[in-house]
Amino acid sequence: MESTPGPDRRSSRPTADALAHLVGTGQLVPCIDGNDRPAVELDQAASTQAHPDAVRRVEEFVPWYSSVHRGAGFRSRHATAAYEQARRAVLEFAGRAPDGGDVAIFCRNTTEAINHLAYRLQLQPDDVVVTTVVEHHANLLPWGRVATRRYVECSSEGTFTVDDVCAALDGDGRRPALLAVTGASNVTGWLPPLEPIIDAAHERGVPVVVDAAQLAPHRPLPSSADFLGFSGHKLYAPFGSGALIGPRSVFEVGDPFLAGGGAVDLVGLDEVVWTAPPDREEAGSPNVIGAVALHAAIDALGHIGWERIVAHEIGLADRLVNGLRSIRGVRLLGPNGSETAATEANGHLAVKTLPVAAFTIEGMHHALVASRLSAEYGIAVRHGCFCAHPYVVRLLGLADNDVAAYRDEVLRGDHRHVPGAVRASAGLGTSGQDIDSLLAAVSELAAGAPAPVPYQQDEATGDFFPVTDQAGWRDAALEPGAACARG
Ligand SMILES: Cc1ncc(COP(=O)(O)O)c(C=O)c1O
Repeated sequence: MESTPGPDRRSSRPTADALAHLVGTGQLVPCIDGNDRPAVELDQAASTQAHPDAVRRVEEFVPWYSSVHRGAGFRSRHATAAYEQARRAVLEFAGRAPDGGDVAIFCRNTTEAINHLAYRLQLQPDDVVVTTVVEHHANLLPWGRVATRRYVECSSEGTFTVDDVCAALDGDGRRPALLAVTGASNVTGWLPPLEPIIDAAHERGVPVVVDAAQLAPHRPLPSSADFLGFSGHKLYAPFGSGALIGPRSVFEVGDPFLAGGGAVDLVGLDEVVWTAPPDREEAGSPNVIGAVALHAAIDALGHIGWERIVAHEIGLADRLVNGLRSIRGVRLLGPNGSETAATEANGHLAVKTLPVAAFTIEGMHHALVASRLSAEYGIAVRHGCFCAHPYVVRLLGLADNDVAAYRDEVLRGDHRHVPGAVRASAGLGTSGQDIDSLLAAVSELAAGAPAPVPYQQDEATGDFFPVTDQAGWRDAALEPGAACARG
């Protein structure tokens, strides 16, 4: 791509009903008609734009940037204090007392948090971890490495009930070692009934980890969950920090996930005495910039308040889902997509979800839809299977032989026919106008609007590229896009 829009190329596009003016809002992106348009960022579930407070706090902190827990200099003391203050903020954000029985361990993201926990629980291969087919791969794959998984199935609408979870927990009578469940689906935005699920697990003596990657930016975290993992980059703080939260006692025994400096009290050539958690779990120099940014983003959410955030996002979800549902040729996946899904009298969805919607357009490849939205309208969405292959296969209602067919092709390196959907996802910085722009564009595509230029599909990624000499898109085929292969 020969022209990358600079950060100062802003338009005055109104974002009147957004709750925050996130960094990059209104930034112009090139389209294949030769016009630059303000980017409509509806891929917030992948990574949110930065909150300006997170960026500002980082800028203010950088002159003070120094080593953490490793220096006697004034700046090092300052950096260490900022890091530990961020830890306290993370605990409070998760509904934990900063000096209580839980610790917050900084890590890169949710994936690392769950892998960290999977290592630390010291499970045996025949220990059972109950998880669900709704999960992101980050909450499926780590458990398969260390234990035996037992699954909660979902309905064709992509949901399960508390009773379904209880049935899986009770299973063959052997008490599971853990329940690993998502706080919110990254595909459909569905919010499992977390509190009763956690209560049911606890009644059976089963601890619970909640994958809060999608929940954390949108709803208060469940204080009753034993373990939580979430990512700063999905929480308006894109500086590489996330957190794992859990009881201090769990991390007081056994070897830490990473071995190295900072995690020890004493080391001899044949001996190590690990220090106390959370330091025990954070070997190596930590990402203090990420922690500072996460702290600022948490503060920013606190200033806005959950009441306003939830009301804003329920409004966006209603507009998005009702709008998509009303477009002929669009199939909406998930609990609000079925024929029987109802909208309540005041226009609210019967099943409240995050402002996230996965859909397909009849007769159009999901990758082509996503590419055209970007190239022709400046609208950013994601397509593919969203790192939740088992869930998407169920939502699409694919038969085993369909899966087997594309599986063989993928093994041969051909990703053209991998099934999937398009996902639009919103957040604090999204306005009703953003949703309307998407709905208008999807309506045109679904009505058969001809592509202004040919689009070519890349076999290796499954992505489509406009064939054009237009600036910004001329070499698009050379650049890897949002390929489902990376799910
Ligand atoms: C529900 C869910 N869990 C886990 C993850 C993994 O998050 P990360 O990529 O930040 O590790 C994601 C990312 O999309 C997600 O949506």
